[in-house]
Amino acid sequence: MSTHDNNPHELEPHGDGSLPDRFENPGHPEHHQRLGDLDPKANKKAERQVLALFTVSVVGTIAFAVAYFALGDPTTDPTKIASATRTENLWLGLTLAFALLGIGTGAVHWAKTLMNDHEMSEERHAIASDAESREAAVQALQDGAADSGISRRGALKGAVIGALALFPITIALPLIGNIGGDWNVGKLKHTMWKKGTRLARDPSGRAIKASDVTIGSVFHVIPENLEEAEHPLDEKAKAVVLLIRLDPRDIRSEQGEGWSYDGIVAYSKICTHVGCPVALYEQQTHHLLCPCHQSTFDVADSAKVVFGPAKRALPQLPITVDDEGYLIAQSDFHEPVGPSFWERKK
Ligand code: FES
Repeated sequence: MSTHDNNPHELEPHGDGSLPDRFENPGHPEHHQRLGDLDPKANKKAERQVLALFTVSVVGTIAFAVAYFALGDPTTDPTKIASATRTENLWLGLTLAFALLGIGTGAVHWAKTLMNDHEMSEERHAIASDAESREAAVQALQDGAADSGISRRGALKGAVIGALALFPITIALPLIGNIGGDWNVGKLKHTMWKKGTRLARDPSGRAIKASDVTIGSVFHVIPENLEEAEHPLDEKAKAVVLLIRLDPRDIRSEQGEGWSYDGIVAYSKICTHVGCPVALYEQQTHHLLCPCHQSTFDVADSAKVVFGPAKRALPQLPITVDDEGYLIAQSDFHEPVGPSFWERKK
């Protein structure tokens, strides 16, 4: 606490310019009682407000559970997956926010309006507490519990217990929902791409002809048959590709011989750092930039890392064209896509 406002003379130096060894205790500033301390009606009103805030938390938790079950099964239509996931995340986030906000604001409002407003001062002392001090601390906690009036205020007691008891549902539900799920991590080593799969635009699913891709252009690509997958969203998360056409003379290297077609190259869109979608292409330098931590890959040179925390190149998808001129995959990726974890496991 600053002593300046209360007794500015205490800070005045001695005649020789030195400061005094000790300052007198300036005491507490004048205490103003709260409205609720003076008016029982205001006190009751504050109690109702705290009750309402904990009720908001209870409603938020229940709404979270409803949203989890009602929106948790994304559509299998690949054109609607993104918007369905956005809607689900929006509702889960909003309801979780209300569940947490209700508890937080309820506790703060309770402390500020209903708990006692007596001012206390505490002398500084050695850090290590003796047994007597620890007992005093336990006593202080017990006094605090008594002071909160929780035993007298039945409705509030029920509300706070209800809010705290229900809130863990928001954490437990997503975990329980995954019990019995598919934990076969081997699936992460393969994608839907295989020999002859056409490259299609994301999200329309329209197949791409080599003649559609002009030099310098970038296409966000998915397998044409994505909607046939059992879990299209999971498959899409692994198989997304960036398709870029360069002047063939600019290509300095690629990851396999004949893996590009007339300057058109396809690389995994999943950053090898921690898996963000790499999506920013700089046409002049042929650099692909990951917006998360700025890893930069050189598309003209096997998508090698030229800057940033990623440790390996983006895996290349070998491509060619079919009889009708559509771009197709020659095979799956030759290595797992995504973060470098896989490389370290080898
Ligand atoms: S995820 Fe791409 S740089 Fe970190």
